[in-house]
Amino acid sequence: MQVVEIRHLPGLIGETVRIYGWLYNSRSSGKLRFLILRDGSGYVQGVVFRPGVADRVWEDAAGVTQESSLWVEGVVRGDQRAPGGVELQISDLGIVSLCPEYPITPKEHGVDFLLNHRHLWLRSRRQHAIMRVRNELLFAIRDFFYRRDYVCIDSPILTPAACEGTSTLFETDYFGEKAYLSQSGQLYLEPAVAAHGKVYCFGPTFRAEKSKTRRHLTEFWMVEPEVAWMRFDGLCQLAEEFVSELVARVLDRCQQEFEWLERDTSPLEAAAQRPYPRLDYADAVAKLQSKGYPVQFGDDFGGDEETALADESGRPLMITRYPAAIKAFYMEPDPLDPTRALAVDMIAPDGYGEIIGGSERIGSYELLERRIQEHGLPRHAFEWYLDVRKYGGFPHSGFGMGIERVVAWLCGLSHLREAIPYPRLLNRLYP
Ligand code: 4AD
Ligand code: MG
Repeated sequence: MQVVEIRHLPGLIGETVRIYGWLYNSRSSGKLRFLILRDGSGYVQGVVFRPGVADRVWEDAAGVTQESSLWVEGVVRGDQRAPGGVELQISDLGIVSLCPEYPITPKEHGVDFLLNHRHLWLRSRRQHAIMRVRNELLFAIRDFFYRRDYVCIDSPILTPAACEGTSTLFETDYFGEKAYLSQSGQLYLEPAVAAHGKVYCFGPTFRAEKSKTRRHLTEFWMVEPEVAWMRFDGLCQLAEEFVSELVARVLDRCQQEFEWLERDTSPLEAAAQRPYPRLDYADAVAKLQSKGYPVQFGDDFGGDEETALADESGRPLMITRYPAAIKAFYMEPDPLDPTRALAVDMIAPDGYGEIIGGSERIGSYELLERRIQEHGLPRHAFEWYLDVRKYGGFPHSGFGMGIERVVAWLCGLSHLREAIPYPRLLNRLYP
């Protein structure tokens, strides 16, 4: 008996196959029982016809409960009305493990209940689709860099120092010394750029953010490219090329998932096209003021401001040249106005907020030394980072993109908690 995955059934019409999976749903009608199976690769309807099967098979088909694990055997039949164009004429089946009453049913459940059952919630069709989109995005990112000869440099998670400000550090004890969970791999990429020219890191990052917004996780995944000799304009171009290519690829490969998610993909089609609009920070402040927001030059933007600024065409917006005072210590000043940083944030449309933050990096040893001091950072922990400027310094730039923010945007999710398999939030560490 050939054991197959459900996704391969359309190519196996007329053949007898066995499938292993779980019961998604079932119903009966007279001499017919319909079992909808899922095996992770897809869904298929199996049909049991009373006169055609042994009594045991008929009874098992009646007794099998939602989410029981089982195998079925039968002939693959083409059927235009069936999803995927095929169904299975079941001739035999075996229950592997009968499932007691399953906590998650097709009725509405509260979000807290679902999050407490995240380990089971992952099985539902919508969550399945989201994880497939995430998977496609992760692969597309690696492929983007591989094709351009970037080298993946994995950065450490246990670190002795802060990268993105000291207010959001998770502290831990490292054999009697203080250590912190990494907020970003960037500082560790910069030395590696001098070894390879083009590098990236891709891993989990941590922010002890006491914010309860739909855009914040305490543990999230970030991908960060860093490029030698790249200046600010090149960085903006890279960010735009990166995001538009990723969107195009996910659109191309995940049509089925977007259908299940009922995601209108027309705004994403716009985001698959370059260029993206750009807005100088000063113009962004003026635009917000004209819309009645009480912001002043020098303020950072919150989620509401970002939403108000976002482009209506569906394309992400790039805001450039923020005041240096509200950005990270390592950012290169703008030569035209040193109070500003050569920084860019990319804002996704429709309220998904900042998906990318990046900058040109400070080239000067003396300036970086001063910034470390001004930011109250412990110099001894950054000696190695200063060495990048000491031993053959060079201009370089990079950015970080938050994976869950992009997944949420692509899938049209209302909160980041569904964009990661096991969300870590202010009030959530379980399961
Ligand atoms: O803007 P951020 O803080 O930039 C950095 O960490 C730089 N060191 C990156 C670099 O230049 N290599 O974070 C980058 C991105 C944000 O744009 C956002 O998409 C995501 O990481 N992000 C979060 N995602 C989910 N939850 C949070 N709490 C996040 N904080 C940042
Ligand atoms: Mg940022």
